[in-house]
Amino acid sequence: MVVRKSVYNEQVFNHCNIAPMINELTITRPDDWHLHLREGDALRDTTPHAARQFGRAIIMPNLRPPVTTVELALDYRKAILDTLPAGQPFNPLMALYLTNSTTADEVRRVAENEQTIAFKLYPAGATTNSDSGVTDIQKIYPIFAEMEKHEVPLLVHGEVTDGTVDIFDREKAFIDRHLIAITRAFPALRVVLEHATTAEAIQFVSDAPETIAATITAHHLLFNRNSLLAGGIRPHYYCLPILKREKHREALVKAATSGNPKFFLGTDSAPHAVGAKESDCGCAGCYTAYAAIELYATAFESANALNRLEGFASHHGADFYRLPRNNETITLKKSTWKIPPNYSFADGKVIPLMAGEELTWKLC
Ligand code: DOR
Ligand code: ZN
Repeated sequence: MVVRKSVYNEQVFNHCNIAPMINELTITRPDDWHLHLREGDALRDTTPHAARQFGRAIIMPNLRPPVTTVELALDYRKAILDTLPAGQPFNPLMALYLTNSTTADEVRRVAENEQTIAFKLYPAGATTNSDSGVTDIQKIYPIFAEMEKHEVPLLVHGEVTDGTVDIFDREKAFIDRHLIAITRAFPALRVVLEHATTAEAIQFVSDAPETIAATITAHHLLFNRNSLLAGGIRPHYYCLPILKREKHREALVKAATSGNPKFFLGTDSAPHAVGAKESDCGCAGCYTAYAAIELYATAFESANALNRLEGFASHHGADFYRLPRNNETITLKKSTWKIPPNYSFADGKVIPLMAGEELTWKLC
């Protein structure tokens, strides 16, 4: 990682014993290990946003109908590649959607294909387009056994759907009721707890064997539930798992900036058309792919940990998935710019997270 500091600021800050201000940052090209691109015309808008910064991304399969087979995943991958700007390298790695009827043959096919990388477990009803998800996790244990055997990672939306459990406690309940049991029953299965949001999740992953990792989103690093609910309901900050209390955000920042290779970048950037968000029953999802690496840089800078961004964004995930790290680099510069009020999204608009606000990092 190459870090350039402003000479003037370095002198001032060293005198005051404060970390020097960094004005430019060059890191290995990052990857996004959890991304929603959607489908159809939306891909013309979402794919270029992701590809401008990331070398690879794991593409989430919660379409309608869901991406449940390698054949469907490869069709979807081709549609994504068809919307890539000319000359822009980007490697979409496909996750398949686990259902009650996923077969052992499908697991083998995923293992044999380099472009399909994992299965995603959505507990039925947990989030957007999860109604075809798994209704009884115990019943798919034989499929977990196949995944363990064929070294196919399991990506988990870790929230229970039990209506009696408070929405702020659903991640912890999932860990207690399911994740501990799964990781004990399948010790060689690599599991990623996607979009970890609580101090309990960080503790669980930190204490678990090295087969267990977690992605952390930029929005959960930057915001707590006050941004969603205090002074008015802000639907563009509504996502699942829902933003939590400040103490949980602090635990996430600590984990992401710790240098621990179990924690890596996964944006969970999840665009919905403006009308689907600003509604009496708004969809869950924050759109961050337009400037994901700049948002992460902002969070790492606030924690005085820009020197840890490269590991989190560009190394840990590749190492966990046993893929080579990217060869190219990207450069971020200190430069203030205003986030537009919206971006085009198929035949409508998507409102980005922090629309109209300023960011101080810019990808060159
Ligand atoms: O906020 C979210 N949006 N969380 C998810 O788990 C799914 C995603 C989506 O697809 O909209
Ligand atoms: Zn997601």
